[in-house]
Amino acid sequence: MSQPANTAFSELADHFYQHGWVWVPQFLPTALNHALLEDLHLQALQQAGVGRQQDHNVNAQIRRDQTAWLDGRSLAQQGYLAMMAELQQWFNQRFFMGLFDFECHYARYQQGDFYQKHVDAFRGRSNRVLTTVSYLNSVTQGGELQLFDEEEQLLTTIKPEAAGLVIFESERFPHQVLPAIDERFSIAGWFRRNNSLNGLVDPGS
Ligand code: OGA
Ligand code: MN
Repeated sequence: MSQPANTAFSELADHFYQHGWVWVPQFLPTALNHALLEDLHLQALQQAGVGRQQDHNVNAQIRRDQTAWLDGRSLAQQGYLAMMAELQQWFNQRFFMGLFDFECHYARYQQGDFYQKHVDAFRGRSNRVLTTVSYLNSVTQGGELQLFDEEEQLLTTIKPEAAGLVIFESERFPHQVLPAIDERFSIAGWFRRNNSLNGLVDPGS
């Protein structure tokens, strides 16, 4: 992490350690946020899928966002992936999490789009360890992210704010995106652990 971010980050680390999730306002430098938003608009966004089955009728009842995976093809993407690589190292040093790699996609929610309550990883069956969502624009209404505890009690409601980042343990928190009113742009990502054992190839999630 850069110097000024360092101080703020130790408080954020405490929050993450105690709760398993944390909201980091102003995570992205403004210039990078703008570059990512421009880059997002150059991508061919596709109707998002859920799991491995690509039954789009079923999917549309669960989620309606449009996505494009980042692969480092632009400077903006490289900048973002570099920041997340630093974050990965920081989590590994601080919490011994054994994070191994990172995957992420742009997402656009247009008016009425939502993502129903879900978890990003099933205990013992996935290598997704930490979920990250960076918000690329601020909304005035709609599109809030809600996190729930394991008893399905609402923990927090996060209103997307440009440059803000939310991080949470992927297995632990059911969450949902309320129907968007303002258009909403984000990057959803997952730090993964390498679950390969005894020479078996990790099938992924
Ligand atoms: C996801 C997700 C939350 C958000 O893409 O899996 O839960 O706030 N996104 O965009
Ligand atoms: Mn999710």
